[in-house]
Amino acid sequence: MTKRRLRSQFWFDNPDNREMTALYLERYLNYGLTWEELQSGKPIIAIAQTGSDLSPCNRHHVELSKRVRDGIISAGGTVIEVPVHPIQETGKRPTAMLDRNLAYLSLVETLFGYPLDGVVLNIGCDKTTPALLMAAATVNIPAIAFSVGPMLNGWFRGERTGSGTIVWKARELLAAGEIDDAGFMELVASSAPSVGYCNTMGTASTMNSLAEALGMQLPGSAAIPAPYRERGQMAYETGRRIVEMVHEDLKPSAIMTRAAFENAIVVNSAIGGSTNAPIHLNGIARHLGVPLDNDDWQRLGHKVPLLVNLQPAGEYLAEDYHRAGGVPAVVGELLAEGLLPHPGASTVNGRSMGENCDGRRSENPAVIKPVAAPMKRDAGFINLKGNLFDSAIMKTSVISAEFQQRYLDNPEDPNAFEGRAIVFDGPEDFHARIDDESLAIDARCILIMRGSGPIGYPGGAEVVNMRPPSYLLKQGIHALPCIGDGRQSGTSGSPSILNASPEAAEGGGLALVRTGDRLRIDLNTCTANMLVSDEELAERRAALPDHPFTPPSQSPWQEIFRERVRPFSEGMTLRGADAYRDIGNSAVPRDNH
Ligand code: FES
Ligand code: MG
Repeated sequence: MTKRRLRSQFWFDNPDNREMTALYLERYLNYGLTWEELQSGKPIIAIAQTGSDLSPCNRHHVELSKRVRDGIISAGGTVIEVPVHPIQETGKRPTAMLDRNLAYLSLVETLFGYPLDGVVLNIGCDKTTPALLMAAATVNIPAIAFSVGPMLNGWFRGERTGSGTIVWKARELLAAGEIDDAGFMELVASSAPSVGYCNTMGTASTMNSLAEALGMQLPGSAAIPAPYRERGQMAYETGRRIVEMVHEDLKPSAIMTRAAFENAIVVNSAIGGSTNAPIHLNGIARHLGVPLDNDDWQRLGHKVPLLVNLQPAGEYLAEDYHRAGGVPAVVGELLAEGLLPHPGASTVNGRSMGENCDGRRSENPAVIKPVAAPMKRDAGFINLKGNLFDSAIMKTSVISAEFQQRYLDNPEDPNAFEGRAIVFDGPEDFHARIDDESLAIDARCILIMRGSGPIGYPGGAEVVNMRPPSYLLKQGIHALPCIGDGRQSGTSGSPSILNASPEAAEGGGLALVRTGDRLRIDLNTCTANMLVSDEELAERRAALPDHPFTPPSQSPWQEIFRERVRPFSEGMTLRGADAYRDIGNSAVPRDNH
């Protein structure tokens, strides 16, 4: 191991400026840290703490960080735990997505501006994972991700109830009059039985699995349930490993390469990952200067089979996923069939993805299927284009038999359908009017949600998957085609066309569509169009106001975010921020006095 000058030594042991060294040291000594811990060349490791009372999904990190700390100290490091701006998917209004970039910005500034040599990223709840990986990408000091782990399985009357997913089912049961309000609450609460993040394959399980597939977590770390003993043991190993990574100067840019992102896209299809994943991975890649777009997701991901039988696409939940082998088993199954594009991609443990997972196989084929007998073939996303938007994602793996038969199996026009647009300007408009019989919504209608993108909402709300009117639900029609410039919860199983970019608030095609327009969706050509003449569309465009579909900002951050944010297709990063690279290695900031 070569002894490198660590960046923390520019604060705590700077021979060129003894006065400032004394000033930097004295306050970090004042709560009991010793000279030896700060001045003997020990790596100073940050634990980026996302757990708090405000963030129940990640709150268990507060406990687990004690074991991370033990690992760091046992390997010869010094620990400084740093608070991260809180993000709780189910608590923050108008959406936790608005705070992803704020947490990113604040963590970048913290890692850059303080005497820190490496960082443990406490990931878990949906947006915490991309926010922290984005910050690690920009600062590019050694970083390792550590998942809080999913909740235990939820149960209700002998059946598994999955967090998030159960809400969509309960909503239908309530609308159809099969349960009352109290039953609704009880059913939903049963799905969250312990500490940890959502136990379904929603955005959290997806992003934690992809953090491992990118090589940023120790093998097997993503899926261990939060309360299991292995979780605490993994915390300790993660703490030990980050100290070694600092000595090796193993940085995020050496792990999150183009090859790693290509692996992650393939793994995302195999696990049935969330439609939020392209937004987040495209965003992380942009902060590293790695080119990645939605065409890559279709090209690399669409033909990959779905192997993981977890809700919402399948039956099981997080404990089952872990017991079947988690990410290493999924990667092992892909490797065995030559489907992982880059087995040589590096990971945080210093070995390649192939070395880590070769020979690992599913330990329960009911939960993680082999490639030869998958849940579904061609399970990745397709990237649709047309006069409604330049890019929108559709998760074909969740197309139900009912949906397939009603919309896609028409022998005269296979895998394509046309329908009448019913347009809603935001979720409030949807809730107010969906059961309005004067709209005459039938099974041939296509529901549109606009004003729900990064600028419009702001942050982009998970509101695109819209239920049919109650009278259609009672007739057994459970899903209508939905299109929108917002997102969809990763726990929802609807085959919506979403993340449409540019959004209506940016003058995208969705700003021009009107209720009654005829739309054509063609999955053969991956197109989505309004069957409206160019002349007519030009007239509608000329009539748009200056900032269409954009209510006033309610906070300073909302305003700043709206001014700078890029569309979903470009990762919803901030213009300007994504131009900064490797800042933790270029120079330390100027002295503060
Ligand atoms: Fe936090 Fe699902 S709401 S992980
Ligand atoms: Mg969500």
